Amino acid sequence: MSDEKREGAQIQIRDLHKSFGEHKVLRGVDLDIERGKINIIIGGSGQGKSVLMKHLMGLLKPDRGQILVDGEDIVPLDDYALNRVRRKFGMLFQYAALFDSLTVGENVAYPLVEHTKMPKVEVEKRVIEQLASLGLKNVEKKFPAELSGGMRKRVGLARALILKPEILLYDEPTTGLDPVATKNVDDMIRDISKDTGVTSVVISHDMASTFRLADRVSMLYEGKIVVSGTAKEFLRTDNETVRNFVEVSGAVEMPARGAQ
Ligand SMILES: Nc1ncnc2c1ncn2[C@@H]1O[C@H](COP(=O)(O)OP(=O)(O)OP(=O)(O)O)[C@@H](O)[C@H]1O
Ligand SMILES: [Mg+2]
Repeated sequence: MSDEKREGAQIQIRDLHKSFGEHKVLRGVDLDIERGKINIIIGGSGQGKSVLMKHLMGLLKPDRGQILVDGEDIVPLDDYALNRVRRKFGMLFQYAALFDSLTVGENVAYPLVEHTKMPKVEVEKRVIEQLASLGLKNVEKKFPAELSGGMRKRVGLARALILKPEILLYDEPTTGLDPVATKNVDDMIRDISKDTGVTSVVISHDMASTFRLADRVSMLYEGKIVVSGTAKEFLRTDNETVRNFVEVSGAVEMPARGAQ
């Protein structure tokens, strides 16, 4: 890989629009996702964060706009070509979305079985290693319903990581977790980022986590990205909507308005 490829934006979103019927959800989103960094997207409930994330790996088609992944616009691609692009991604869905009728081991193995011709013994070995790297031992034979919420998140993360993706998407990974489990998941996101150099995109409602983890923070509001920058730049914004959103959480201190 050239230096040029390792630096800068891995995903460039340009003028992205998406409506459901009359409801305009995305109204011209422009956003760069930086390669190898932790990119966090915040915003109120129903603002379109999950919708935006699903566009990144081609799970939804926009009405208009571009999504360049490593410079390639994925919007016009058909399903066959999209499958190749999707191999670059791992996604941890908002509600863990494990298959309840499959064991934990079968859940984690699923992408390997779908996308590779890896022999069964090798698959089993990789699954056990992946689970162990996230602190999960002897859970392969259990069913998701037998695990706690925090453990289910980690199983979802193991499944997202099993194909060694270049880009990891996390949709509200700590929703419903207590403060200790939240910190564990945050630490995992940071360790995975550091150890693998993966590009991370995290949707978060938790301001304390956001400013602990983020290299870059962007806020989605009324269908657009209203402020985007490094965590430090972001906190210096004069945008009232953004300031109120962050301040009401009480989790982080913002510099006074107009401070440099
Ligand atoms: N497939 C769909 N069909 C119709 N409307 C949809 C669809 N998916 C999302 N929406 C609508 O788009 C809007 C944005 O939804 P989205 O799930 O992206 O919000 P969000 O920002 O992720 O919210 P939350 O923080 O609660 O998860 C909502 O009004 C939702 O009802
Ligand atoms: Mg959502």
